[in-house]
Amino acid sequence: MSRIFSGVQPTGNLHLGNYLGAIRNFVRLQDDFECIYCVVDLHAITVWQEPDELRKSIREVTAAFIAAGIDSKKHIIFNQSQVSAHAELAWVFNCVARLGWLNRMTQFKEKAGKNRENASVGLYAYPVLMAADILTYKATHVPVGEDQKQHLELSRDIAQKFNHDFGVEFFPVTEPLILGEATRVMSLRDGEKKMSKSDPSEYSRITLTDGPDEIALKIRKAKTDPEPVPEAGADLDKLREERPEALNLLTIFAALADTPVADVQAEYGGKQFSEFKQALTDLAVASMGPIGEEMQKLVADPGYIDDVLRDGGTRADALAQPVLREVKEIVGLLQP
Ligand code: TYM
Repeated sequence: MSRIFSGVQPTGNLHLGNYLGAIRNFVRLQDDFECIYCVVDLHAITVWQEPDELRKSIREVTAAFIAAGIDSKKHIIFNQSQVSAHAELAWVFNCVARLGWLNRMTQFKEKAGKNRENASVGLYAYPVLMAADILTYKATHVPVGEDQKQHLELSRDIAQKFNHDFGVEFFPVTEPLILGEATRVMSLRDGEKKMSKSDPSEYSRITLTDGPDEIALKIRKAKTDPEPVPEAGADLDKLREERPEALNLLTIFAALADTPVADVQAEYGGKQFSEFKQALTDLAVASMGPIGEEMQKLVADPGYIDDVLRDGGTRADALAQPVLREVKEIVGLLQP
């Protein structure tokens, strides 16, 4: 059986990258798969979170899932900390994963920065908890943006080593689903940096709650170069190196319009960026605006959001508990 699992951290500032790289795909997959979408609050606390802000962000990500079109009755939306199996399985996996594997994780190196000694142990073990998230449900497919590829490879390694060490065929080898034109949306201020929740510049990202004026302003201020929009047939690898900001805007347009980048180039290639940016603004406002508005309505009703999470948590727990019991059995942990 095919089952989808994916997660988003409640760390504020959900942006266009989260939407195009992940959440929009979550919505599209729900017709063909059984889906479990998780607000990964335990991952969020691997770096400091103000408790009140965290509570707000958990509800906001939940609202984004619902506003984007995920059906919380047909599928499962819940927050990770409600289902204790994630943390329990993560511990077992901490004993399966090797230090050498974690030492290779580029995201830890980026997030910990120069002061690695001062990073939390949780930040280091972050990808192990990800493996537990996925495998607690024996998920077969995991939709994510490109930046999560290495973490998913690690979770495959963990599943395989667990199966091998204990001589079982228990965990599936999960497939990443990195879908669409915008698998790595870049900052609007610097085409070589990923669009991210933690960038200090508000102008680096369009957030899901930005109104039309903010979207227009951010796209108008987005960095470009003096050349016109790249023509159709331009070598994309060369563009990525030489004109990363131009390519980023083309990619965002293509993803929002659901067409290949080449088609956008065919239409706008050779035109001035001012004209292209206006068209991009109209497109972004038309596709993101309604989601932002719906999100605002939903967060105004925290009781409803909490009900969705509670219901999802109960159903997720019912799926997770039998798997955890079997894991304990396989490992030799007594459960009298
Ligand atoms: P998070 O919250 O950082 O990102 C959520 C999703 O958004 C994607 N994403 C992007 N896609 C394209 N361009 C960008 N600039 C961009 N920035 C973020 C991410 O790839 C991700 O799919 N570790 C995960 C959360 C997680 C998870 C899991 C995912 C925890 N457990 C289990 C899958 C399965 C993360 O980075 O979240």
